[in-house]
Amino acid sequence: MLTTPFLNRRQFLASGAAFAASTKIAAGATATSTGNPITLRAATGQAALRPAPFGLTPVWHYNGAVPGAAIRVRQGERLRIEAQNDLPEDTTIHWHGIRTPNAMDGVPDLTQAAIPAGGKFLYEFDVQDAGTFWYHPHHNSSKQVGHGLYGPLIVEEHDPIKVDRDLTWMLDDWRLTEGGEIAGGFGSMHDAGHGGRMGNTVTINGKMPDRLAVKTGERIRLRLINAANARIFGLDFGALSPIVIAIDGQPVSPHAPESGVVVIGPAMRVDLVLDMSGKPGEALPVQDVFYNRMEYKLLDFVHDATLLRSTVPDWSIELAPNPLSEPDLATATRHEVIFNGGMMGQGMMGGGMMSMMNQMRQGNMWFINGVAAKGPVKEPFLKLAQGTSHILSMENRTAWPHPIHFHGHSFRVIARNDQPTRFKEWQDTVMMAPKEKVDIAFVADNPGDWMFHCHILEHQAAGMMGVIRVGAEA
Ligand code: C2O
Ligand code: CU
Repeated sequence: MLTTPFLNRRQFLASGAAFAASTKIAAGATATSTGNPITLRAATGQAALRPAPFGLTPVWHYNGAVPGAAIRVRQGERLRIEAQNDLPEDTTIHWHGIRTPNAMDGVPDLTQAAIPAGGKFLYEFDVQDAGTFWYHPHHNSSKQVGHGLYGPLIVEEHDPIKVDRDLTWMLDDWRLTEGGEIAGGFGSMHDAGHGGRMGNTVTINGKMPDRLAVKTGERIRLRLINAANARIFGLDFGALSPIVIAIDGQPVSPHAPESGVVVIGPAMRVDLVLDMSGKPGEALPVQDVFYNRMEYKLLDFVHDATLLRSTVPDWSIELAPNPLSEPDLATATRHEVIFNGGMMGQGMMGGGMMSMMNQMRQGNMWFINGVAAKGPVKEPFLKLAQGTSHILSMENRTAWPHPIHFHGHSFRVIARNDQPTRFKEWQDTVMMAPKEKVDIAFVADNPGDWMFHCHILEHQAAGMMGVIRVGAEA
């Protein structure tokens, strides 16, 4: 049985362990256009996910740390990264949300050959968009990401907004054994058919969080990145009033999150501006309230004795837009994309056809327009002429939420259940609630074969992926 992270953390605290919670990001490399390529070395190792006196957890990581090196680069600069594979199996690196040329996208058998154990690969591309991105393997993703292979990629604006502190929280959810090892069972049919591999230990930047010291009046830009295989976070900042300023790296009209809860599905990012409004000495909790009856406290913002300022600063929190092509909705071609499959309450497959039962026996649990993709997918289910506008009318006919990710592009989320969205937000990964319809619009302006998949990594592995081709002729 899985325990909630809340129970686990309480157990740790009850153990009386001296526990200086660290929410520091791994000391990061900073890449510049003039420097040598930075190296990201994927290897096996160990990490102190849990506080002393608990031992280390064997993990897979980049450059010896979970998360891997925080890459910071300026918008418009060229990033050169040498991936070195010291894992016992093939790997690749995907730059999630970055609009790279297709050959740099890191998808094995589609955009490159997998990097074999002992091998290297040079990734090289210009970063067009400022914002909060991340990197992770795209081979055997459930197991590799689930073992700790991921890191933040922050692209700085030419003209960043003014804040007192710029923090990144890379959220993860691990399924650990009592002894603190990563539990087996990657590839479990049960996880694949339900909500994916849910864990029992939540970390921020590779540590179980406890508290973060802040100053009264301090303004923090908080970059949230969800690196979990399957867990969706719904962060309730309680007495604080977070303002969303970017989603998936792309600026959005600054706004308070709906019903005060910041929902962030696997692979998504949300940038917040937080003004610390507690009194000196006060502790303000952040709770994760996404799953009913599994709410838990993530951490406390503990205001120290300092009063930094007593009024909210009037500094602008509006980010300049990135250079994305605006889809022309009047001429856009509409495509239906139907998601089916998965287990329901009684263990039935959605869609309900016998052929699907047979598919399921082969591990195909999820379907895009009736097709479950297993192994390397090469045949596109959509072919789009380069430079043309498109609307994907997506419908989630399953009983589960799915974060749907499209590579090589950002898209506007223009409607949910046929109602126009308030902000027409740009995203690269969009949460679909069970039975929800979501319309997204974009210009197919980046040529190549691009993955389109659910970012619950166990759903992806069980068929919930496909390829969209953007090319000279459709
Ligand atoms: Cu974050 Cu297809 O990936
Ligand atoms: Cu899914």
